[in-house]
Amino acid sequence: MEIVAAADSDERGLKLLKVIGQLQRLFSFIHSLTCHRIKAFSSTDNSSSSSDTKQVPDMSHEDLTNKVKDICEELILSHESLREVCDILEEELNKGLGRDSNPEAAIKCFPTYVRELPNGKEKGRFLALDLGGTNFRVLLIQLGEKCSMDSRIYAVPQPIMVGSGDGLFDHIAECLSSFIKERELGDELLPLGFTFSFPCKQEGLTKARLARWTKGFKCAGVEGRDVVELLKQAIARRGDVRIKICAVLNDTTGTLMSCAWKNHNCRIGLIVGTGTNACYMEKLERVELWDGDQDMPKQVIINTEWGAFGDNGCLDFIRTEYDNNIDRESINPGRQLYEKMISGMYMGEIARQVIIRLVSEGLLFGGKSSEILEEKGSFFTKYISEIESDKNGDFNNCRTVLEELGLNNATDTDCANVRHVCECVSRRAAYLAAAGVSVLLNRIDEESVTVAVDGSVYRFHPHFHNLMTEQISHLIKPGMKFDLMLSEDGSGRGAALVAAVASRSESR
Ligand code: GLC
Repeated sequence: MEIVAAADSDERGLKLLKVIGQLQRLFSFIHSLTCHRIKAFSSTDNSSSSSDTKQVPDMSHEDLTNKVKDICEELILSHESLREVCDILEEELNKGLGRDSNPEAAIKCFPTYVRELPNGKEKGRFLALDLGGTNFRVLLIQLGEKCSMDSRIYAVPQPIMVGSGDGLFDHIAECLSSFIKERELGDELLPLGFTFSFPCKQEGLTKARLARWTKGFKCAGVEGRDVVELLKQAIARRGDVRIKICAVLNDTTGTLMSCAWKNHNCRIGLIVGTGTNACYMEKLERVELWDGDQDMPKQVIINTEWGAFGDNGCLDFIRTEYDNNIDRESINPGRQLYEKMISGMYMGEIARQVIIRLVSEGLLFGGKSSEILEEKGSFFTKYISEIESDKNGDFNNCRTVLEELGLNNATDTDCANVRHVCECVSRRAAYLAAAGVSVLLNRIDEESVTVAVDGSVYRFHPHFHNLMTEQISHLIKPGMKFDLMLSEDGSGRGAALVAAVASRSESR
C-alpha cells in the first residue's frame, strides 16, 4: 500500500515539474518574440510559407552552424565504418557467387554470359533498345573505325511504369516500330541488343528472367518471366517489325563494354544514376554458380546487382532515420537499401528529410518551412549538384533552388547550412560507391584497372568523381593503380558491342 502511495505522489510531483517546465518554455518563447532578439533570423521573413513557424531558438550564426553540423554528423562515415562496409560487401559477394549460398544471398551476382571484351575491331550496324529509367531509347549504331549513333528518346509515362507487363512491352514495341519507319530501316534484319537495366537472372545471352523490379517500376506479370520473350510477343502482336535479338544486357555491362572497346584495362562497369549497380569480369573458377561451359576464355562478366546490398540488415549500423523513412515510403520497402543511400532516385529526398528536420528544430529559415518543401520528392537530386556547384562562399544556385522551393528569404547562414546538408548526403553516397568499387578492384587484383562509369549522379555532380577517387585510393591494396573513366553511352554502344562480340564468338 505504502509503495503505491509513494509512487502516486512521485507521479504527481513529476506532472507538476512538467507543467512548470512547459510554462517556462512558453514564457521564454513569448519573451523571445516580443524582444525580437532573434539575431540569426533577422531577415528570414518567409512570406510565401503557409506552414507554421516553429519555436526558434535564440542562437548566433555560429551556434546555428554548429548545431546543424552536429545533426548531420550521423551522415558522415568514418574510415573504420567504410572498411567494415568493404569487409561485409566482400562476404556478401561471395555468398552471391556460391551455388548453395546464392538462393539466400541479398546480392545476386548474376553471370551475364558475356565472356569476352571487345577488341576494338567490331564493325556493323546495330539496333539497341535501352530501358532502365523514366525514358526509353531506341538507337541505331554504326560500329567501325569510329562509332556513330542516331537515337530517339521516348518517355515512359508513370501509368505504364506501374501498369501491366503487356502494356509496357507494347509501348516498347510501338516506339521501336515508329523508329524503324522513321529511319526507313524496314528492309534490313538488323541485329539488336536490348539493354534492360533491372536485376535479371540470365539463362543465356538472349534469355533473362526479371528477378524483381527496382527504380519505381512495378509492372504486373513480368517478375519471373523472360523479358526477351515478352518483347518478342509484343512485336508479334503488332506484326509490323522484323528484328533479330542478339543480346540482352544490363546497363553496367554495356558501360563496361563500351569503355573496354578502346581501353584494354577496363574490367568494371559502374552506374550511379537513378539506381546504382556494378559489374566486373570474374574468373570462372570463382563463380561456383556458373552452369555454362568451361571453354576459354575462363571468365564471365558478373552483374552484381549490389543495389540490394544491406537488404538482410547487414548495413543497419550505418543507416539513419532518414534512410528508414525513405525506405518505408518507397514502392519497394526493405529492398535496394544500398541503392537508396547512393543513387539519384533517393539522394534529393534524403537531403529534404534532413532539411525538414532542421527547420522543425528552428535551425533553418527561422523555423519556417514552405508548402513545396513539405512535399515528398520536391527536393530533386539535381538540386544537390547545383547547390554544390556554387563557388565557396557564393550562394547563387542555392538561392535559386530555395526560391523554387518557395523559400524566398534565406540568409547566408541558411544557404551555407543547406549546402552542408547536400555535401554530407553526396559525400556519403560517393564514399559508399567508392567502398563498393574498392572491393571489386581488390578482388580483380591487377596492377592497373580502369573503371567505366556512367549515370546522372556521377556525370553531373561537381565533386563525385574526385570524392570517389580519393576514397578508393584509401581503400585498395597499396600499389594498385586505377582510374574512373566516364563511359560514353554504354546502353547504346555497349549493347551493340555485346551483340557484335556475341556474333564473333558464335562464328568461331
Ligand atoms: C538498379 C537495377 C540495376 C541497374 C541499376 C542502374 O539497381 O536493379 O539492374 O543496373 O539500377 O541503372
